[in-house]
Amino acid sequence: MGFDQYHEPPEELSQETRTFARMITSLIEEAEAIGWYEQRISIEKNAEARAIMKNAQKEEFKHFGMDLEFLIRHKSDWRTELKSILFSKGSIVKRGEAAEKKVD
Ligand SMILES: [Fe+2]
Repeated sequence: MGFDQYHEPPEELSQETRTFARMITSLIEEAEAIGWYEQRISIEKNAEARAIMKNAQKEEFKHFGMDLEFLIRHKSDWRTELKSILFSKGSIVKRGEAAEKKVD
């Protein structure tokens, strides 16, 4: 991975922005891990191996959630939008459009 999370010279970024970038990278990695486990679980024939992978995937759900919570505690507009979209019923697209209007 190295320093790929930065798209601007790191020395010009504030500590807060560098932390934010690292947490974004962590969020991406947790999402990738969830997807990789999903694929492995879907093809694994050994039940015990599959159970271990499912257990590991649950850990990644937790990591993803903690990363996301950290990030939205530092981005109020993002938090506002997610409050309107997540854990809701009905059309996700309509909820997303309504959420966007809340921060415009
Ligand atoms: Fe993880």
